[in-house]
Amino acid sequence: MFPQFTEDQLAIREAAREFAKAEIEPGAAARDANSEFATDIIRQLGEMGFMGMTVPEAYGGAGVDFLSYILALEQVAYADASVAVAMSVNNSVACAPILAFGTEAQKQKYLKPLASGEELGGFMLTEPDAGSDATALKARATRVEGGWRLNGAKAWITNGGVGRYFITMARTDPDSAKKGISAFILDADQPGVVMGRPEHKMGLRSSRTVMVALEDAFVPDDALLGQLGDGLKVAFGGLDVGRIGIAAQALGIAQRAMDESITYAKARVSFGKPIGEHQMIQTYLAEMEARLQAARLLVYRAATLKEAGQPCTKEAATAKLFSTESAVFLCDRAVQIHGGYGYSQEYVVERLYRDVRITTIYEGTSEIQRMVIARELLKRPLSNA
Ligand code: CAA
Repeated sequence: MFPQFTEDQLAIREAAREFAKAEIEPGAAARDANSEFATDIIRQLGEMGFMGMTVPEAYGGAGVDFLSYILALEQVAYADASVAVAMSVNNSVACAPILAFGTEAQKQKYLKPLASGEELGGFMLTEPDAGSDATALKARATRVEGGWRLNGAKAWITNGGVGRYFITMARTDPDSAKKGISAFILDADQPGVVMGRPEHKMGLRSSRTVMVALEDAFVPDDALLGQLGDGLKVAFGGLDVGRIGIAAQALGIAQRAMDESITYAKARVSFGKPIGEHQMIQTYLAEMEARLQAARLLVYRAATLKEAGQPCTKEAATAKLFSTESAVFLCDRAVQIHGGYGYSQEYVVERLYRDVRITTIYEGTSEIQRMVIARELLKRPLSNA
């Protein structure tokens, strides 16, 4: 099958599967019910090298290839999508931008603790009035002696309140729209960074999401990430990586919905036979499987291109669009197959149905993915590949 996995990739997938089954899955329902962040599990994932998987060992990471990271993330999401998003955000939109744009000193100071799991990271781009239209962000960075003071509001910040270092986009030049935005590595451990109460969400209830008020938060000169005015490049480059991660998260949720549906279809009897023997249910299962496998190929393809260092903006967006929308479809069908039980917290598909819904929204909505794909298609020469 495509791709041919290496021995190392298979071993990493197996290690992730075993850890997810033994340590993540058992408490997932309780953490969801109590909106409890999986602090101890995140610490253990750090010890396993899973919080900075593609970061070189010299900077605290595991130094494995990108597809290995995606395979591990899929397994974690299969057990608990809330844990998967904390892992994905740390790997993809906290570590990856520092690795790509950071100076040697920044890698030593910020990347090492993030990649080793000693600290947790996040990404502050979105604001209450700037979501899909990220360029409309208003947070201001004002020059002061030795650095910058940040003021403004950031919204929907994953790992807020539990993380330490956040890649934060703020306006350094109010007179320039796109070039007026810069990226900083913000240390949230200071009085000027005020974390709001955890949001009460439909799903991913045990992941931590907060509003953040920046009130004269200080970032030193040497915490500017990339060049002044390069904030959108840092942010959108990070999101190319992040979108493959969210696509893998959706894939893990979808595979779980598939497996739960098959198990239930064999066990539940109606009209004198297991419901899996009714053609109507078989049609559902077949459609679910087709979408699941197609999504998997797109996600692995995007990951393979990313690993090869090739441009993957379109492929990441395509993988995210198809994988997340397919996962929503699979979870909906899984609930349908379970009937009334699927609507009850007794069955895991109820949680999957709630958890999966955000995947077509964060790290760029499905509408934004369509826009990115179309823009890339229109600016490239025709290709029949
Ligand atoms: N990689 C690197 N640079 C890129 C890029 C990419 N993929 N895409 C664009 N850029 C650069 C452009 O080259 C441009 O720089 P230059 O002018 O120097 O060429 C700059 O970034 C601005 O790009 P655009 O002109 O294309 O910007 P735009 O305003 O037209 O926006 C957009 C494009 C695709 C709509 C973008 O705003 C977007 O992706 N919006 C969605 C935002 C998003 O995904 N938010 C997710 C929040 S994070 C989150 O959810 C994390 C979490 O907690 C789970």
